[in-house]
Amino acid sequence: MGWREPFAEGTGWLSMSDVQAYIGDGLQRFTDEIFEFLQIPSVSAKSDHDADTRRTAEWLHARLVDAGLEAEVIDTPGHPIVLGEWRGAGEGAPTVLVYGHYDVQPAEPVELWHSPPFSPEFREGRLYARGSADDKGQLYLHVKAAEAHLKAGDGLPVNLIILAEGEEEVGSPNLVPFLEENCDRLACDAIVISDSAMFAPGLPCLLFSLRGLAYCEIHVDGPSSDLHSGSYGGPVVNPAMALSQILASLFDDDGRIDIDGFYDDVLDWDDETRDSIRNLPFDEEEFATSIGTTLAGAEKAYSVNERLWTRPACDVNGILSGYTGEGAKTVLPANAMAKVSFRLVADQNPQRVFDLMRAHVAKVAPEGVTVRVEELHSGMPWRAQLSGKLKEAATTALIKAFGAAPVLAGEGGSIPIVCDFERVLGAPALLVGFSLPGANEHAPNEWFPQENIEKGIRALAYLYEELR
Ligand code: BES
Ligand code: ZN
Repeated sequence: MGWREPFAEGTGWLSMSDVQAYIGDGLQRFTDEIFEFLQIPSVSAKSDHDADTRRTAEWLHARLVDAGLEAEVIDTPGHPIVLGEWRGAGEGAPTVLVYGHYDVQPAEPVELWHSPPFSPEFREGRLYARGSADDKGQLYLHVKAAEAHLKAGDGLPVNLIILAEGEEEVGSPNLVPFLEENCDRLACDAIVISDSAMFAPGLPCLLFSLRGLAYCEIHVDGPSSDLHSGSYGGPVVNPAMALSQILASLFDDDGRIDIDGFYDDVLDWDDETRDSIRNLPFDEEEFATSIGTTLAGAEKAYSVNERLWTRPACDVNGILSGYTGEGAKTVLPANAMAKVSFRLVADQNPQRVFDLMRAHVAKVAPEGVTVRVEELHSGMPWRAQLSGKLKEAATTALIKAFGAAPVLAGEGGSIPIVCDFERVLGAPALLVGFSLPGANEHAPNEWFPQENIEKGIRALAYLYEELR
């Protein structure tokens, strides 16, 4: 199934101005509700928050029902899926599936937050809270846009499915089976996702790509227990040192990933797209200053945005070994572990990257330790199939809400489930986010631009109208 054209003419809907007036009138209540949503610590990675995560799902379910959708909380082997549906536009009208996630990343280190992560607060035009941008705040904009149509008129101009999962931040382990089992029920003409940022303040964007992900752990095991480094150091190979050698071998002197075959499947982007990326209004020096470092990483022949959006990367996300407490302890640790993630671009495949990584680690590991690579989670890189009515509708909606036409941009982060949605449901995905660069997603002091609560709801309300 593709995007259905021509569109059925909608009749009998109240004018957009009633819907937009409802948004203006309801803004204070919408904001109060977003605060309530953000107060529940739905940290999917931590089992001591399982009850909170379920409470968040139930809270969202109640708000979908209040908005006028039929909704249910669906159990999975992990955190529940919340599904809302409104089919009142009829068979001739298009069906839009909105996807978002109500789970959040852990807030730690909590001491670095200027206000508590689960006590939302406005400061200087920003809404600070864990999940404000990623993704509870953005998901909720869709709920309110739907509510505006359902309460201020006779219904939505499109049939709507809102699917919210509670496991995006842990790799969506239960979503693909759910999509596959329910593909008839979830059949749609477009998938709309707001889990990303605008290109710049006042400048919305539509995403043309996301990087994929291959996330693994390298485990290095040495002696059967920690040893005195004086009594054993020298003849016994130190697992922390062995791990350091392995990690160092992942890059060459220019910072390129030095794993045999790694770049074989990396496609060069066409000149037109590369030019359009370089022509975006983006100041690399300002960007570097904003993050307090330089941009000395690999592949300097590419612009920073080209590197972030069109080139792969490898990062160590954490290292664990030995003694790291106060003072000195002369220990030769028995084990070492590193978490390593690869950001992937078309046409790389995470499974092949895991295989190459395993072969590489086995090749470079020094004698005297055993090594193993464990896969944690992965996702395919995504390129948009944006065209026709869907692109036009989104463009018009964003112009109406923001007074600016969206630019086309890529994204270095990953939303692994996007490819699965397109594959299983056979519909194109539209990625339109309302957060801003530097919103501290996954970091202390996450924020969402206050004015985009209103503008985002308005844009989405316009979008449904434009898609009619
Ligand atoms: N919302 C993000 C994706 C994102 C990140 C969009 C940065 C725009 C800017 C999403 O929730 C996320 O965090 N994805 C993870 C992957 C996931 C499997 C944990 C990521 O990119 O690390
Ligand atoms: Zn995230």
